[in-house]
Amino acid sequence: MYCVRKMTEDLYWVGASERRLNLFENAYPLTNGVSYNSYLLLDEKTVLIDTVDKSVSGLFFENVDHVLGGRKLDYLIVQHMEPDHAATIGELVLRHPELTIVCNAKTRTMMQNFFTFDIDSRLQLVKEMDTLTTGRHTFAFVMAPMVHWPEVMVSYDTTTKTLYSADAFGTFGALNGNLYADEVNFRTEWLADARRYYTNIVGKYGTQVQTLLKKAAGLEIEMICPLHGPVWRKDIAWFLDKYIHWATYTPEDDAVVIAYASVYGGTENAANVLAAKLSELGVRNVQMYDVSVTHPSYILSECFRASHLVFISTTYNAGMFVTMENLVHDIVHHNLQNRTIALMENGSWAPTAAGLMRAEFQKLKNCTILDETVTIKSTLKEAQLADVDAMAQAIYDSMPKPAPAVHTADAPVEKNAFFSFSYGLFVLTAREGEKDNGCIINTAAQLTDTPKRISIAVNKANYTHDMIRRTGVFNLSMLSTDAPFGLFQHYGFQSGRDVDKFADVKGMARATNGVYYLPYSTNAFVSGKVTQEIDLGTHTLFIADVTEARVLSGAPSMTYSFYFANVKPKPAALTKQTGWVCKICGYVYEGETLPADFICPLCKHGAEDFEKLPD
Ligand code: FEO
Repeated sequence: MYCVRKMTEDLYWVGASERRLNLFENAYPLTNGVSYNSYLLLDEKTVLIDTVDKSVSGLFFENVDHVLGGRKLDYLIVQHMEPDHAATIGELVLRHPELTIVCNAKTRTMMQNFFTFDIDSRLQLVKEMDTLTTGRHTFAFVMAPMVHWPEVMVSYDTTTKTLYSADAFGTFGALNGNLYADEVNFRTEWLADARRYYTNIVGKYGTQVQTLLKKAAGLEIEMICPLHGPVWRKDIAWFLDKYIHWATYTPEDDAVVIAYASVYGGTENAANVLAAKLSELGVRNVQMYDVSVTHPSYILSECFRASHLVFISTTYNAGMFVTMENLVHDIVHHNLQNRTIALMENGSWAPTAAGLMRAEFQKLKNCTILDETVTIKSTLKEAQLADVDAMAQAIYDSMPKPAPAVHTADAPVEKNAFFSFSYGLFVLTAREGEKDNGCIINTAAQLTDTPKRISIAVNKANYTHDMIRRTGVFNLSMLSTDAPFGLFQHYGFQSGRDVDKFADVKGMARATNGVYYLPYSTNAFVSGKVTQEIDLGTHTLFIADVTEARVLSGAPSMTYSFYFANVKPKPAALTKQTGWVCKICGYVYEGETLPADFICPLCKHGAEDFEKLPD
């Protein structure tokens, strides 16, 4: 039975997904399968853009037949000759002998290598910026050599502003019904596979990808149709930014990745000690990989993500440990650049691994290899902890820090001056899988009206920050002047890493994006979808498009100054007040005795959730 997706009035996805394949290109483990995308346009002429891997050819031909509905196939545009997209060209020609093959001269040569059918009689050769008009649509062809083979070209439909991007913008992962990137949780569930696909398949060819990105920058693009993974029609700028990082070998995160090779655990222990010391210095999100356990394609991908890399290897056969040697060579072959690297070695009688790793990494452009190399013999000893400390300190010192203050004693910066800003106060909420969390912020602002666009600055130490970075989605509940102090305690004085802030909260509501908003003590909420992130050192500035906004009450907004004047308790007032405080939201019932059937007017919790204020 055919399985297609209608994308526009005249464009169909006719590809297929594969979930049985263990190794893509017989090299890269697939955890979530892979899709082979093919697109069929029903213009005055019919146009097929690439074919599929032979493993899914049965379904593919059913799809093509169904969408053609008896029409003949006029054109096949061949963008890439790798067999995962070209293996079925031979059978396609047998089924549709009338078709014209549109490709470039390099593709023709490769087709002659793979197939023996009469190619030249049905060939229409194209070169850079040649066009093909098929009726309402006109395709312009852009050469993209080495993204990922030398013959690769991409096709731009000037009518619909659709870029058929070949392997570029592709990702591992089968399509599970959802065709578009905005129909899945791409940032949380697909990005790692997209990065692993890019870095391993075309990571070596960053210069060539940059050339393609420069050409694409001159095009107005409404939709990107890659040959693997979801189609992009929203958030294109966000994914382009990822590609710019990867193609220019620019780290995405100021972060440390430790890759270690250990036989009996002594080297692994040293890696753990280093990671703990980095954490004590304040380095967050350290990632560790045992190179004998994790396939190198995953670690290579992580090396493209992080700014600081540590390689720790035992010495084996007078060289690096075999799995470390494989990883190091893989990194060098993929041209990684612009990293800070630290090395540690183990060797019970003749350690050599660090020197060999250094010699390999010296081949990389613009990488700093730290001098603080540590050598251990069999196991780390107390006397060597200072060496590990020095390495951790050197890594920490080389990581970016917030810019120093620019003010001087002559022109002091008084903290209270900032209280005169007319800030509002907000509960910022996020959801990741089944985990909900929220925090208090005062740094939200509307940026533009058309489209509705806002910004929020969020401290990197907040768990909500990390959730938004991973999901790209949040709600902002605008607090009103009736918000009690307890609400600030609940969301602002404890971390979502330690407590579930929503475990006992009743009367909450979810917006259309699935994230909680506060229905009480607020006068409105807005839902945001992140389109851009700016690293501000201690904070990240998220710029987001508004996807929903609702008015909840007519109460005035809580300002920063109102909070300090009227909500935040004065030290003396805390002890003078008599009554009962709601442990959930902070509402205070004034009176000596709390009625047993009392219900909190704010969060609707019963008397059992109140406690007596201290006398
Ligand atoms: Fe998906 Fe380079 O082939």
